[in-house]
Amino acid sequence: MPNNTPINKTDGNDFKVLALESSCDETAASIVHWQGDGKGAILSNIILSQTEEHAAFGGVVPEIAARAHVNAMDDVVRAALLEANLDFKSIDAIAATGGPGLNGGLLVATLTGKSLAKALHKPFYPVNHLEGHALTARLTDGIAFPYLLLLVSGGHTQILIVHGIGTYQRLATTIDDALGEAFDKTAKLLSLGHPGGPHVEKAALNGDGHRFPFPRPMQHHETLNLSLSGLKTAVRQAAEEIAPVSNQDISDICASFQEAVCDILQNRIERSFKLFNEEYPNLEKPVLVVAGGVAANKKIAERLEKLSIDSNFGLSKPPLNLCTDNAAMIAWAAAEHIAVGKQGDFSFIPRPRWPLDETADTLVGRGKRGAKV
Ligand code: KG4
Ligand code: ZN
Repeated sequence: MPNNTPINKTDGNDFKVLALESSCDETAASIVHWQGDGKGAILSNIILSQTEEHAAFGGVVPEIAARAHVNAMDDVVRAALLEANLDFKSIDAIAATGGPGLNGGLLVATLTGKSLAKALHKPFYPVNHLEGHALTARLTDGIAFPYLLLLVSGGHTQILIVHGIGTYQRLATTIDDALGEAFDKTAKLLSLGHPGGPHVEKAALNGDGHRFPFPRPMQHHETLNLSLSGLKTAVRQAAEEIAPVSNQDISDICASFQEAVCDILQNRIERSFKLFNEEYPNLEKPVLVVAGGVAANKKIAERLEKLSIDSNFGLSKPPLNLCTDNAAMIAWAAAEHIAVGKQGDFSFIPRPRWPLDETADTLVGRGKRGAKV
């Protein structure tokens, strides 16, 4: 048997990819149908969240996550086939998240994916999780290259120029906590529950966003990088100073936190717009794509909408279930690579650290969950 059987299609224009994702705390499988000319259809999209398993710990526990992925992956794959009303024979390629992420989870997706591909005599495609996020808007909104991407989740906080498939230029990353992590830690400090983002957003609804002057670090730094760990320290100090905190205090802290986050993002997005326009001065309507769980936040969404309108950028936000972690984005990213002739790779080993822009500097301490970049 050849090591990596090519896709057996004459024109490469119509094929189905089954993808597995388990890089963090979701076990997911999806089948995507590449229909040619950059168009695709999601035939199934199964996501099993481990939120409850980790809730008591206020964050993702790697060992618990890995074991839960092992237990769930078979059933999740079966469910993806069932939902698509397909059997393994109809699948043309297998893909799996190969990184970045938690090593235990990456091993589950990669080894399951390779085993399936070997048994079915299909090619195996390891996919960069961040690339999945980066390319989703092409599946959902047909966005053309190049575009600007803001990726804000519990594990990543990056701004990238997506020049084309496989060509990503990182403009900004966090040097410490991810933005979702800052929400989660703030919620934990205020005993609001996990994951923290929706709790902070809800509490902030009745709050005064100008009561606490939380820091907006590195606004004038020569790079666009972010530092978000100081926010949680400022939140803790504010809460300690006025302890015991009332419900109104909590609302004011959450609203002030969100206000600081919006200002921090505004500064980086405005500077990114400028850099993007310098790189592509002749684009009629440049687009900002927003992905990741934090994109669900209405205050942030409103601010990004205003900024985009003011700077003549279009704004694309994939539906939330495709903005957060899922396997459809992994299948789609693999499909994009297959369509331009990329070969599969059985020799791949998981990469807990796998930057999208391999030329960008490594920043020690960035991101959470072990090794996301
Ligand atoms: O993309 P995602 O589902 O998973 C990864 O981290 O990869 O993002 C989850 C993160 C969590 O940190 C969560 O607190 C945050 O997204 N989040 C929010 C909101 N909903 C989820 N942050 C702010 N506001 C929200 N409404
Ligand atoms: Zn993600």
